[in-house]
Amino acid sequence: MEGARDRTRVDAPLKVAGLAPYADEHVQEGALHLAPVLATVALGRITRIDDEAARAVPGVRLVLTHENAPRIAPTLPTLTVLRRSRVRYRGEIVAAVVADSAEQARYAASLLRVDYAPEQAATRPDPEGEDVRELRRVMAIYPGRYRDGDVDGALAGATHRVEGTYTTPTNHHHPIEPHAVTALWHHGAGRLSGPRTTRLTLWDTNQGVIAPQGVIAGAFGLLPTQVEVVSPYIGGSFGTKGVPHPHTMATVMAAKLLPGHPVKVALTRPQMSAGTGYRPPTTQRVALAADADGRLTAIDHQVYAPVSRVIPWMDPTAGPTLSMYASSTRRTAYRTQDLDIAPGTFMRAPGEYTGMFALETAMDELAHATGVDPVELRLRNEPGADPESGRPWSSRHVTTCLTEGARIFGFEQQRRRRREGEWWIGQGVAAASFPQMSMGPSLARVTFADERYVVSMQASDIGTGARTVLAQIAAQALGVPEDAVDARIGTTDAPAAIIAGGSTGTFGWGSAVVEAAHAFRTEHGEHPEEGATARARTRMPQGVRGVTRMAFGAHFAEVAVSEVSGKVRVRRMYGHFDGGRIMNPRTARSQFIGGMTMGISGALFEESYRDPRFGHVVNGDLAGYHVAAHADVVDLEVGWVGEPDPWMGATGAKGIGEVGIVGVPAAIGNAVFDATGVRLRELPFTPGRVLEAWEAAEGRGA
Ligand code: MOS
Repeated sequence: MEGARDRTRVDAPLKVAGLAPYADEHVQEGALHLAPVLATVALGRITRIDDEAARAVPGVRLVLTHENAPRIAPTLPTLTVLRRSRVRYRGEIVAAVVADSAEQARYAASLLRVDYAPEQAATRPDPEGEDVRELRRVMAIYPGRYRDGDVDGALAGATHRVEGTYTTPTNHHHPIEPHAVTALWHHGAGRLSGPRTTRLTLWDTNQGVIAPQGVIAGAFGLLPTQVEVVSPYIGGSFGTKGVPHPHTMATVMAAKLLPGHPVKVALTRPQMSAGTGYRPPTTQRVALAADADGRLTAIDHQVYAPVSRVIPWMDPTAGPTLSMYASSTRRTAYRTQDLDIAPGTFMRAPGEYTGMFALETAMDELAHATGVDPVELRLRNEPGADPESGRPWSSRHVTTCLTEGARIFGFEQQRRRRREGEWWIGQGVAAASFPQMSMGPSLARVTFADERYVVSMQASDIGTGARTVLAQIAAQALGVPEDAVDARIGTTDAPAAIIAGGSTGTFGWGSAVVEAAHAFRTEHGEHPEEGATARARTRMPQGVRGVTRMAFGAHFAEVAVSEVSGKVRVRRMYGHFDGGRIMNPRTARSQFIGGMTMGISGALFEESYRDPRFGHVVNGDLAGYHVAAHADVVDLEVGWVGEPDPWMGATGAKGIGEVGIVGVPAAIGNAVFDATGVRLRELPFTPGRVLEAWEAAEGRGA
């Protein structure tokens, strides 16, 4: 397999022209519109629903409540809405109105009167609270408690020691395409007990059609084959579209009561902030100890993050700390607290993003304490094998990322020496890692028709370029020109595949594509007949469980910090990555740059505020939830090692969708320290926080 073939996205012309339909754009004719009604109490019971005024609005077809909603089978706890009178968090869907137009539905929804018997809710996170508890496992695969050696002893006797508390806020994904779904129950749907003639079609936005297909079929007592999901184009996700959310359940329920009518909803930004998941906030305590040469003798990483009582969603925040550096002792632990708030979910590099902010800032503090250059400090603590498991690395080029990155960027710290008027200039570095997980096998099919090859599978292009890259991989494996292959993805009418999650698409789906292409040639030769087809599944090398697979990187940032306003400007950034074989430099560069852009955004702006009384998000739109704009992202460049990883399957590619965001806030914060001597341990670095920290630092220094 070769890599490094530059190709523009095959769907770019359609997207630029506005002709690639997103979920809300497939069905217009005859569609009815749903408007959800969200709970206004954090916890309690619905005592009465008065729908008289709502029903009187012209065009209203249905008021859906727990009293008339179709019964569903047990399903994901997040999706058990409209089942009972119980309210579990403020913003939970408690009713919905369906009308001929979206305006009628929204207006009628505003007139629906819901009375509650509110109960005392726990909505304030408190890391020191009495109800804080420890966790045994995190995200099923990470240890809740990990200990290797006498950490306390090493910290107590250390030559150099740094420790600090690092906090990260709640973040929301806000992909450019909002959550949207259209549901249509075809005739036969009105009969009892889901006969085989029943069919349900969902035009949906998701990271993989298999998720809504399986979940909705299960809830409504259908076979997966009775649920068709159509999702050819997705306008971004970042984790929020990995699993269905309550609005999908409500819409499918409403459509079931209105068979033959497509029922659609597109959530508003505030509705997305209320019930489609988020990155949970963290409070982290990190302590590092080192000998005189800067070699780590202790790493201690304690994580606190609150969880929703609906599902205990916890990111593996200390995950990267298990494997990033060599150290003679190591400890990680997690504590949590149950709150009556909406549940969190995956958000780009869940865990690594928050954890590496703390660890990589602490490493910079250690560099300062020991007087060792921050790149050199990381090189000195490079582990020969995975410190957690003792297993060898499948490949690990952190050293190259750091040294090549520093050279290409021109990394040279200023140590509070460089100023331009009110602006203080500095540079920072941080490393990045992201595990390469096995999310299970995918199937791919290759078909020859009309002198062209079609590779089809349920894969999803959430903006990554997967549609383009999968066709490139197929073309290579078939030995035909790239423009002789089309990828057909984003539909349940294709072989089953895992969702676009965990940065696994290119190597996981890609492996299935290669295997299917090889099977095709074996079965049909070089001159196939029209309609010839073959299929195969993902195949990873024997013994893959004996190695640790991760993508790596190093970020370099140059910032200017205003002593007047406290504003931080990221003047330029460079990232150098170990992403295995790079299949398409153009789409890969976009993935890395996209991750870095999101990292800048998280470092400087993104923060969801909760009302402490009710636990709901109050800045649930893009006026209140700031994301980086063009003017904030000035000069980004990336490079990579490009060495294939023999343990990643036929492509030799590592996943790169997430590693690009990891470590970015630390690199920026470390650059702020280099510029000003002010250490920032709380994200995001807003002007107010910067000035406050600056004043505190100077107050201490005086
Ligand atoms: Mo993505 S956060 O791997 O769904």
